[in-house]
Amino acid sequence: MLAGDPIIQVTDLVKEYRGGLRAVDGVSFSVQRGEIFGFLGPNGAGKTTTIMVLISLLRPTAGRAVVCGHDVAREPDRVRSRIGYVSQDIAVDDALTGEQNLFLQGRLYHLDRETIARRMAEVLAMVDLTDRAGDLVLTYSGGMRKRLDIAEGLIHRPDILFLDEPTLGLDIQTRRRIWDYIRLLRAREGVTVFMTTHYMEEADQLCDRVAIIDHGRIVALGSPAELKAAIGGDLLTLDIAAGDGHAAGDLVGLLRTVPGTKQAFRADDGRWVLVAGHGEEAAPAVLEVLGAHGLRVRSLAMKKPTLDDVFLHYTGRELRRSEGSDDFGRMRMGLRRARMG
Ligand SMILES: Nc1ncnc2c1ncn2[C@@H]1O[C@H](COP(=O)(O)OP(=O)(O)O)[C@@H](O)[C@H]1O
Ligand SMILES: [Mg+2]
Repeated sequence: MLAGDPIIQVTDLVKEYRGGLRAVDGVSFSVQRGEIFGFLGPNGAGKTTTIMVLISLLRPTAGRAVVCGHDVAREPDRVRSRIGYVSQDIAVDDALTGEQNLFLQGRLYHLDRETIARRMAEVLAMVDLTDRAGDLVLTYSGGMRKRLDIAEGLIHRPDILFLDEPTLGLDIQTRRRIWDYIRLLRAREGVTVFMTTHYMEEADQLCDRVAIIDHGRIVALGSPAELKAAIGGDLLTLDIAAGDGHAAGDLVGLLRTVPGTKQAFRADDGRWVLVAGHGEEAAPAVLEVLGAHGLRVRSLAMKKPTLDDVFLHYTGRELRRSEGSDDFGRMRMGLRRARMG
Protein backbone atom coordinates (compact mmCIF):
# COMPACT_ATOMS: atom_id res chain seq x y z
CA MET A 1 0.00 0.00 0.00
CA LEU A 2 1.40 3.39 -0.98
CA ALA A 3 1.73 6.30 1.43
CA GLY A 4 -0.99 8.49 -0.07
CA ASP A 5 -3.48 5.66 -0.64
CA PRO A 6 -6.69 5.65 1.36
CA ILE A 7 -6.52 3.22 4.30
CA ILE A 8 -10.07 2.02 3.52
CA GLN A 9 -11.36 1.86 -0.06
CA VAL A 10 -14.91 0.61 -0.61
CA THR A 11 -16.35 0.22 -4.10
CA ASP A 12 -20.00 -0.63 -4.92
CA LEU A 13 -20.26 -2.80 -1.83
CA VAL A 14 -23.40 -4.93 -1.46
CA LYS A 15 -24.35 -7.23 1.39
CA GLU A 16 -27.51 -9.23 1.00
CA TYR A 17 -28.67 -11.46 3.84
CA ARG A 18 -30.31 -14.82 3.24
CA GLY A 19 -33.90 -14.10 2.38
CA GLY A 20 -32.86 -11.29 0.07
CA LEU A 21 -32.67 -8.29 2.39
CA ARG A 22 -30.06 -5.85 1.02
CA ALA A 23 -28.64 -4.40 4.23
CA VAL A 24 -25.85 -2.66 2.27
CA ASP A 25 -26.98 -1.62 -1.18
CA GLY A 26 -24.04 -0.41 -3.24
CA VAL A 27 -21.90 1.91 -1.13
CA SER A 28 -18.62 3.50 -2.19
CA PHE A 29 -16.34 5.66 -0.06
CA SER A 30 -12.76 5.93 1.09
CA VAL A 31 -11.15 6.81 4.40
CA GLN A 32 -7.77 8.52 4.68
CA ARG A 33 -5.13 7.51 7.21
CA GLY A 34 -5.61 9.34 10.52
CA GLU A 35 -9.22 10.33 9.90
CA ILE A 36 -12.13 9.91 12.27
CA PHE A 37 -14.74 8.78 9.77
CA GLY A 38 -18.37 8.34 10.79
CA PHE A 39 -21.28 6.31 9.48
CA LEU A 40 -24.39 8.14 10.68
CA GLY A 41 -27.82 6.66 10.23
CA PRO A 42 -30.95 5.39 11.98
CA ASN A 43 -31.45 1.95 13.44
CA GLY A 44 -31.44 -0.67 10.67
CA ALA A 45 -29.63 1.55 8.13
CA GLY A 46 -26.87 -1.01 7.55
CA LYS A 47 -24.09 0.42 9.73
CA THR A 48 -23.20 -2.75 11.65
CA THR A 49 -23.41 -4.86 8.49
CA THR A 50 -20.92 -2.53 6.78
CA ILE A 51 -18.50 -2.81 9.71
CA MET A 52 -18.82 -6.61 9.74
CA VAL A 53 -17.85 -6.72 6.06
CA LEU A 54 -14.95 -4.30 6.55
CA ILE A 55 -13.51 -6.35 9.42
CA SER A 56 -13.95 -9.51 7.28
CA LEU A 57 -16.47 -11.24 9.55
CA LEU A 58 -19.12 -11.13 6.79
CA ARG A 59 -18.44 -11.81 3.12
CA PRO A 60 -19.59 -9.15 0.67
CA THR A 61 -22.30 -10.21 -1.81
CA ALA A 62 -20.83 -7.93 -4.47
CA GLY A 63 -18.36 -5.09 -4.76
CA ARG A 64 -15.02 -4.72 -3.06
CA ALA A 65 -13.49 -3.47 0.16
CA VAL A 66 -9.77 -2.95 0.63
CA VAL A 67 -8.61 -2.35 4.20
CA CYS A 68 -4.95 -1.55 5.00
CA GLY A 69 -4.06 -2.61 1.46
CA HIS A 70 -5.77 -6.02 1.68
CA ASP A 71 -8.97 -7.21 0.04
CA VAL A 72 -11.30 -8.22 2.90
CA ALA A 73 -12.69 -11.21 0.99
CA ARG A 74 -9.35 -12.57 -0.23
CA GLU A 75 -7.05 -11.79 2.69
CA PRO A 76 -9.22 -11.73 5.82
CA ASP A 77 -6.39 -12.76 8.16
CA ARG A 78 -4.17 -9.92 7.00
CA VAL A 79 -7.02 -7.47 7.53
CA ARG A 80 -7.81 -8.81 11.02
CA SER A 81 -4.21 -8.46 12.22
CA ARG A 82 -4.22 -4.76 11.30
CA ILE A 83 -7.52 -3.67 12.82
CA GLY A 84 -9.19 -3.40 16.21
CA TYR A 85 -12.93 -3.81 16.65
CA VAL A 86 -15.22 -2.71 19.44
CA SER A 87 -18.72 -4.13 18.99
CA GLN A 88 -21.89 -2.24 19.81
CA ASP A 89 -22.50 -4.53 22.78
CA ILE A 90 -20.11 -4.48 25.72
CA ALA A 91 -17.87 -7.50 25.32
CA VAL A 92 -15.70 -7.47 28.45
CA ASP A 93 -16.00 -10.27 31.01
CA ASP A 94 -17.61 -9.18 34.30
CA ALA A 95 -16.04 -11.99 36.30
CA LEU A 96 -12.48 -10.87 35.48
CA THR A 97 -10.50 -7.78 36.38
CA GLY A 98 -9.75 -5.10 33.80
CA GLU A 99 -6.15 -6.35 33.60
CA GLN A 100 -7.22 -9.96 33.09
CA ASN A 101 -9.56 -8.93 30.28
CA LEU A 102 -6.76 -7.06 28.54
CA PHE A 103 -4.32 -9.92 29.04
CA LEU A 104 -6.69 -12.39 27.36
CA GLN A 105 -7.24 -10.01 24.47
CA GLY A 106 -3.46 -9.67 24.04
CA ARG A 107 -3.08 -13.47 23.95
CA LEU A 108 -5.79 -13.63 21.31
CA TYR A 109 -3.50 -11.54 19.14
CA HIS A 110 -0.51 -13.77 20.01
CA LEU A 111 1.37 -11.02 21.82
CA ASP A 112 4.04 -12.14 24.29
CA ARG A 113 3.74 -11.38 28.01
CA GLU A 114 6.21 -8.51 27.99
CA THR A 115 4.53 -6.79 25.07
CA ILE A 116 1.15 -7.25 26.71
CA ALA A 117 2.37 -5.78 30.00
CA ARG A 118 3.83 -2.72 28.27
CA ARG A 119 0.83 -2.17 26.02
CA MET A 120 -1.59 -2.75 28.88
CA ALA A 121 -0.04 0.08 30.89
CA GLU A 122 -0.28 2.38 27.87
CA VAL A 123 -3.87 1.65 26.92
CA LEU A 124 -5.09 1.68 30.53
CA ALA A 125 -3.58 5.14 30.99
CA MET A 126 -5.18 6.30 27.78
CA VAL A 127 -8.70 5.40 28.90
CA ASP A 128 -8.04 6.47 32.50
CA LEU A 129 -8.48 3.07 34.09
CA THR A 130 -5.01 2.51 35.59
CA ASP A 131 -6.28 2.84 39.16
CA ARG A 132 -9.12 0.40 38.66
CA ALA A 133 -7.33 -2.18 36.50
CA GLY A 134 -7.07 -4.69 39.35
CA ASP A 135 -10.80 -4.54 40.20
CA LEU A 136 -13.45 -6.90 38.88
CA VAL A 137 -15.30 -5.46 35.88
CA LEU A 138 -18.48 -6.27 37.81
CA THR A 139 -17.76 -3.15 39.88
CA TYR A 140 -17.32 -0.85 36.83
CA SER A 141 -19.87 1.70 35.58
CA GLY A 142 -21.21 1.50 32.02
CA GLY A 143 -18.78 4.18 30.85
CA MET A 144 -15.80 2.37 32.44
CA ARG A 145 -16.78 -0.91 30.72
CA LYS A 146 -16.96 0.84 27.38
CA ARG A 147 -13.53 2.40 27.98
CA LEU A 148 -12.11 -1.02 28.82
CA ASP A 149 -13.71 -2.34 25.63
CA ILE A 150 -11.96 0.39 23.64
CA ALA A 151 -8.65 -0.38 25.40
CA GLU A 152 -9.05 -4.03 24.32
CA GLY A 153 -9.49 -2.93 20.73
CA LEU A 154 -6.15 -1.09 20.97
CA ILE A 155 -3.96 -3.66 22.71
CA HIS A 156 -2.29 -4.92 19.52
CA ARG A 157 -1.65 -1.41 18.16
CA PRO A 158 -4.03 -1.57 15.19
CA ASP A 159 -3.87 0.82 12.23
CA ILE A 160 -7.65 1.20 12.23
CA LEU A 161 -10.05 1.04 15.14
CA PHE A 162 -13.64 0.12 14.23
CA LEU A 163 -16.11 1.40 16.81
CA ASP A 164 -19.73 0.33 16.40
CA GLU A 165 -21.99 2.79 18.27
CA PRO A 166 -19.30 3.56 20.89
CA THR A 167 -21.63 5.50 23.19
CA LEU A 168 -24.92 3.66 22.75
CA GLY A 169 -27.13 4.02 25.80
CA LEU A 170 -24.58 6.04 27.82
CA ASP A 171 -25.56 9.33 29.46
CA ILE A 172 -24.42 12.55 27.83
CA GLN A 173 -21.54 13.30 30.26
CA THR A 174 -20.12 9.81 29.78
CA ARG A 175 -20.58 10.12 26.03
CA ARG A 176 -18.58 13.34 25.99
CA ARG A 177 -15.75 11.67 27.91
CA ILE A 178 -15.68 8.80 25.42
CA TRP A 179 -15.42 11.40 22.62
CA ASP A 180 -12.41 12.89 24.41
CA TYR A 181 -10.74 9.47 24.60
CA ILE A 182 -11.36 8.83 20.91
CA ARG A 183 -9.78 12.18 19.99
CA LEU A 184 -6.89 11.47 22.34
CA LEU A 185 -6.10 8.09 20.89
CA ARG A 186 -6.15 9.46 17.38
CA ALA A 187 -3.69 12.16 18.49
CA ARG A 188 -1.43 9.83 20.51
CA GLU A 189 -1.56 6.62 18.48
CA GLY A 190 -2.25 8.09 15.06
CA VAL A 191 -4.93 5.45 14.70
CA THR A 192 -7.59 5.82 12.02
CA VAL A 193 -11.10 5.58 13.46
CA PHE A 194 -14.10 4.22 11.59
CA MET A 195 -17.17 4.58 13.75
CA THR A 196 -20.92 4.26 13.45
CA THR A 197 -23.48 6.22 15.36
CA HIS A 198 -27.13 7.17 15.26
CA TYR A 199 -26.44 10.24 17.42
CA MET A 200 -26.14 13.15 15.02
CA GLU A 201 -24.47 15.31 17.65
CA GLU A 202 -21.78 12.69 18.11
CA ALA A 203 -21.01 12.57 14.39
CA ASP A 204 -21.00 16.36 14.26
CA GLN A 205 -18.62 16.82 17.21
CA LEU A 206 -16.26 13.97 16.60
CA CYS A 207 -15.97 13.06 12.93
CA ASP A 208 -13.76 14.71 10.31
CA ARG A 209 -16.07 13.32 7.66
CA VAL A 210 -19.46 11.69 7.83
CA ALA A 211 -21.35 9.40 5.47
CA ILE A 212 -25.08 9.60 6.12
CA ILE A 213 -26.55 6.17 5.51
CA ASP A 214 -30.19 5.18 5.08
CA HIS A 215 -31.63 1.85 3.87
CA GLY A 216 -28.16 0.60 2.95
CA ARG A 217 -27.27 3.59 0.79
CA ILE A 218 -25.10 6.64 1.36
CA VAL A 219 -27.33 9.69 0.93
CA ALA A 220 -24.69 12.32 1.72
CA LEU A 221 -20.96 12.39 2.41
CA GLY A 222 -18.67 15.19 3.56
CA SER A 223 -17.40 17.08 6.58
CA PRO A 224 -20.17 18.06 9.03
CA ALA A 225 -19.65 21.71 8.01
CA GLU A 226 -19.95 20.89 4.29
CA LEU A 227 -23.07 18.81 4.83
CA LYS A 228 -24.75 21.53 6.86
CA ALA A 229 -23.75 24.21 4.35
CA ALA A 230 -25.41 22.17 1.59
CA ILE A 231 -28.78 22.87 3.21
CA GLY A 232 -28.30 26.40 1.90
CA GLY A 233 -28.94 28.57 4.92
CA ASP A 234 -30.77 29.00 8.21
CA LEU A 235 -33.95 27.19 9.16
CA LEU A 236 -37.05 29.05 10.25
CA THR A 237 -39.69 26.89 11.87
CA LEU A 238 -43.17 28.38 11.99
CA ASP A 239 -46.32 27.39 13.79
CA ILE A 240 -49.04 29.02 11.73
CA ALA A 241 -52.60 29.30 13.05
CA ALA A 242 -54.86 27.46 10.60
CA GLY A 243 -56.15 30.25 8.40
CA ASP A 244 -59.50 29.94 6.70
CA GLY A 245 -59.35 29.00 3.07
CA HIS A 246 -55.59 28.40 2.89
CA ALA A 247 -54.73 24.97 1.53
CA ALA A 248 -51.29 23.52 2.33
CA GLY A 249 -50.16 24.02 -1.25
CA ASP A 250 -51.15 27.69 -1.13
CA LEU A 251 -49.10 28.21 2.02
CA VAL A 252 -45.98 26.63 0.53
CA GLY A 253 -46.40 28.90 -2.49
CA LEU A 254 -46.87 31.89 -0.23
CA LEU A 255 -43.81 31.09 1.90
CA ARG A 256 -41.72 30.79 -1.25
CA THR A 257 -42.49 34.41 -2.07
CA VAL A 258 -40.61 35.56 1.06
CA PRO A 259 -37.41 37.27 -0.17
CA GLY A 260 -34.30 35.10 0.29
CA THR A 261 -36.26 31.83 0.63
CA LYS A 262 -34.62 28.78 -0.88
CA GLN A 263 -37.04 26.13 0.26
CA ALA A 264 -40.34 25.80 2.08
CA PHE A 265 -42.14 22.66 3.22
CA ARG A 266 -44.40 21.27 5.89
CA ALA A 267 -42.73 19.02 8.50
CA ASP A 268 -44.25 15.80 9.86
CA ASP A 269 -45.33 17.58 13.04
CA GLY A 270 -47.47 20.07 11.10
CA ARG A 271 -45.14 23.03 11.46
CA TRP A 272 -43.76 24.88 8.45
CA VAL A 273 -40.11 25.07 7.63
CA LEU A 274 -38.46 27.72 5.54
CA VAL A 275 -34.80 27.66 4.49
CA ALA A 276 -33.29 31.07 3.88
CA GLY A 277 -29.75 32.31 3.26
CA HIS A 278 -30.04 34.89 6.05
CA GLY A 279 -32.50 33.95 8.76
CA GLU A 280 -32.29 37.37 10.42
CA GLU A 281 -33.64 39.03 7.29
CA ALA A 282 -36.16 36.35 6.41
CA ALA A 283 -37.82 36.31 9.86
CA PRO A 284 -39.43 39.78 9.73
CA ALA A 285 -40.17 39.32 6.02
CA VAL A 286 -42.11 36.11 6.59
CA LEU A 287 -44.20 37.70 9.35
CA GLU A 288 -45.02 40.55 7.01
CA VAL A 289 -46.03 38.28 4.11
CA LEU A 290 -48.19 36.04 6.29
CA GLY A 291 -49.71 39.04 8.11
CA ALA A 292 -50.67 40.61 4.79
CA HIS A 293 -52.67 37.44 4.06
CA GLY A 294 -54.40 37.46 7.41
CA LEU A 295 -52.42 34.52 8.78
CA ARG A 296 -51.29 34.51 12.38
CA VAL A 297 -47.93 33.05 13.43
CA ARG A 298 -48.08 31.36 16.84
CA SER A 299 -44.35 30.84 17.08
CA LEU A 300 -41.23 31.32 15.02
CA ALA A 301 -37.85 29.73 15.74
CA MET A 302 -34.62 30.26 13.86
CA LYS A 303 -31.60 27.98 13.97
CA LYS A 304 -28.51 26.95 12.08
CA PRO A 305 -28.89 23.54 10.42
CA THR A 306 -27.80 20.38 12.25
CA LEU A 307 -26.96 16.99 10.77
CA ASP A 308 -30.53 16.02 11.64
CA ASP A 309 -31.69 18.68 9.19
CA VAL A 310 -29.28 17.26 6.63
CA PHE A 311 -30.83 13.83 7.15
CA LEU A 312 -34.32 15.29 6.84
CA HIS A 313 -33.27 17.15 3.71
CA TYR A 314 -32.10 13.97 1.94
CA THR A 315 -34.57 11.42 3.28
CA GLY A 316 -37.70 13.39 4.20
CA ARG A 317 -37.56 11.83 7.67
CA GLU A 318 -36.08 12.88 10.97
CA LEU A 319 -33.08 11.01 12.33
CA ARG A 320 -33.79 12.11 15.86
CA ARG A 321 -37.06 10.16 16.03
CA SER A 322 -35.26 6.84 15.98
CA GLU A 323 -32.90 7.69 18.84
CA GLY A 324 -35.04 7.39 21.95
CA SER A 325 -36.95 4.30 20.89
CA ASP A 326 -33.75 2.43 20.12
CA ASP A 327 -32.18 3.15 23.48
CA PHE A 328 -35.41 2.31 25.20
CA GLY A 329 -35.48 -1.05 23.45
CA ARG A 330 -31.94 -1.76 24.56
CA MET A 331 -32.70 -0.69 28.09
CA ARG A 332 -35.57 -3.16 28.27
CA MET A 333 -33.36 -5.88 26.82
CA GLY A 334 -30.81 -5.13 29.50
CA LEU A 335 -33.43 -5.32 32.24
CA ARG A 336 -34.73 -8.61 30.92
CA ARG A 337 -31.22 -10.01 30.84
CA ALA A 338 -30.54 -8.78 34.36
CA ARG A 339 -33.71 -10.44 35.60
CA MET A 340 -32.94 -13.71 33.89
CA GLY A 341 -29.38 -13.73 35.22
N1 LIG B 1 -28.02 -11.68 10.32
C1 LIG B 1 -29.01 -11.01 9.69
N2 LIG B 1 -29.89 -11.64 8.89
C2 LIG B 1 -30.86 -10.98 8.23
N3 LIG B 1 -31.04 -9.64 8.30
C3 LIG B 1 -30.21 -8.95 9.09
C4 LIG B 1 -29.15 -9.59 9.82
N4 LIG B 1 -28.47 -8.63 10.52
C5 LIG B 1 -29.08 -7.46 10.24
N5 LIG B 1 -30.12 -7.62 9.40
C6 LIG B 1 -30.98 -6.59 8.83
O1 LIG B 1 -30.19 -5.76 8.01
C7 LIG B 1 -30.56 -4.39 8.13
C8 LIG B 1 -29.37 -3.58 8.57
O2 LIG B 1 -29.00 -3.98 9.88
P1 LIG B 1 -27.73 -3.38 10.62
O3 LIG B 1 -26.56 -3.46 9.73
O4 LIG B 1 -27.62 -4.06 11.94
O5 LIG B 1 -28.15 -1.85 10.80
P2 LIG B 1 -27.65 -0.74 11.84
O6 LIG B 1 -26.37 -1.21 12.44
O7 LIG B 1 -27.50 0.49 11.02
O8 LIG B 1 -28.72 -0.59 12.87
C9 LIG B 1 -31.72 -4.37 9.10
O9 LIG B 1 -32.91 -4.37 8.36
C10 LIG B 1 -31.55 -5.65 9.87
O10 LIG B 1 -32.78 -6.11 10.37
MG1 LIG C 1 -25.87 -1.46 14.48
